[in-house]
Amino acid sequence: MRPGRRRQSKAAAATPADPARVDRLPYYCAVELFRVTGGTRLVGEVTVGGAKNSVLKLMAAALLAEGRTVLTNAPRILDVTIMSEVLRRLGCTVGVNGETITIDTPAEPGTEADYDLVRRMRASICVLGPLLTRCGKVKVAHPGGDAIGSRGLDMHIAGLQRMGAEVTSEHGFVIAQADRLHGATIWLDFPSVGATENILTAAVLAKGTTVIDNAAREPEIVDICAMLTEMGARIYGAGTSTLEVEGVDALAPVIHRTVPDRIVTGTWAFAAAITRGDVTVRNAEPSHLEIALDKLRTAGAEVDLLGPGEGFRVRMDPRPRAVDVVTLPYPGYPTDLLPMAIALAAVADGPSMITENVFDARFMFTNEMVRLGADVRTDGHHAVVRGKEWLSGAPVRATDIRAGAGLVMAALRAAGVTEVAAVYPIDRGYPDFVAQLRGLGAEIERVTVPDDEMSFDF
Ligand code: UD1
Repeated sequence: MRPGRRRQSKAAAATPADPARVDRLPYYCAVELFRVTGGTRLVGEVTVGGAKNSVLKLMAAALLAEGRTVLTNAPRILDVTIMSEVLRRLGCTVGVNGETITIDTPAEPGTEADYDLVRRMRASICVLGPLLTRCGKVKVAHPGGDAIGSRGLDMHIAGLQRMGAEVTSEHGFVIAQADRLHGATIWLDFPSVGATENILTAAVLAKGTTVIDNAAREPEIVDICAMLTEMGARIYGAGTSTLEVEGVDALAPVIHRTVPDRIVTGTWAFAAAITRGDVTVRNAEPSHLEIALDKLRTAGAEVDLLGPGEGFRVRMDPRPRAVDVVTLPYPGYPTDLLPMAIALAAVADGPSMITENVFDARFMFTNEMVRLGADVRTDGHHAVVRGKEWLSGAPVRATDIRAGAGLVMAALRAAGVTEVAAVYPIDRGYPDFVAQLRGLGAEIERVTVPDDEMSFDF
């Protein structure tokens, strides 16, 4: 039995009155985890690939045009594999060769995306807009909530209804149909990334002009607007909070380069600061991360920009100072970098107040940070973190991508060994994670061990 593991399984402890049932359970199953020995300063260079949150939507946008779409600078992550399967089941032929994805879209794609894939990756919902506008009908499993919050679809649906779609919800599916969507003015209650994307990709082939007010302004939205425009769409205002889309009759497939991943970029920048290291991040776009980099400067890091699109260098020598962070839609501090802000605050000098404004359950993972010795107290959408010089290694787990990465960052500054059970979530969003960390000097390995806790509450 590994240190720190309880001798009695949780399953056994939960059903003491029914030993026969417990006896029928297998004694253990295997679990993959990252084993991190803390204490190393990260030093060296990393290269960032294309953005997960862009490429998945660009792949879905390929459904809008018959023929071959080619996406370059695609990240080699599990979510791309899942999205490829979603598209294959819709009748596309998808090839992934290194960082290039080739998608051949048929004249008449399928219109149904099943729960078995949508539940693995809620971004599958981004096929809703393209399929509805191209095929006149679509049936997509409702993804439900996930580890970071409730994640509604009401704005996606209200926007499509405003454009003339009939939308119903049956047996866990969202079903939408419309002979041809028409232009409309849509005011979003919140600048939702996913709702903006679904309405935008529906509007490009609608009849007339659609205006999306309070639209999301993320660089990934600008990226999909760029690709759609190359395909022949007429979109004005990309990167502002008002998007105007004049519908066209047909689009043509294109070759498009995916924007760099600003969240992976930010993760490396914070990793440098947390470990008091010196990391150069290449192929990154610092202008997409201005607030996050400014927070690192306030914490005492030196951040040197290498030029547009080339990246930057982050050096942190003394202990980081505490900084307050408030997450907001772009251009605010990204919610996906909240776990990294908590990890930094946990080892900073002084107390930090971290406020989350986007997802209602994003702080769930802080219980695992506490297992590493972090002093984190949450109240509603605020967390107060009192920094310590060192954290202390322990077994932890995470079910979302960014929490997993944040825990590994914290583990790098924890005395002793930390086992982070978050391999699947991290594979979903971080290409070559272990190799890149080892390249910077981290002591980290991916190991498979028997899971004697059975993980029923995972
Ligand atoms: C995307 C990103 C995610 C990022 C988030 C915010 C992808 C695959 N994921 O998620 O990594 O953290 O943007 O930057 O791109 N909401 C509703 N009703 C709706 C739509 C959204 O209530 O119809 C709420 C959500 O529950 C959430 C908030 O709005 O609380 C923001 O969600 P949204 O911007 O839509 O995030 P996603 O597109 O799901």
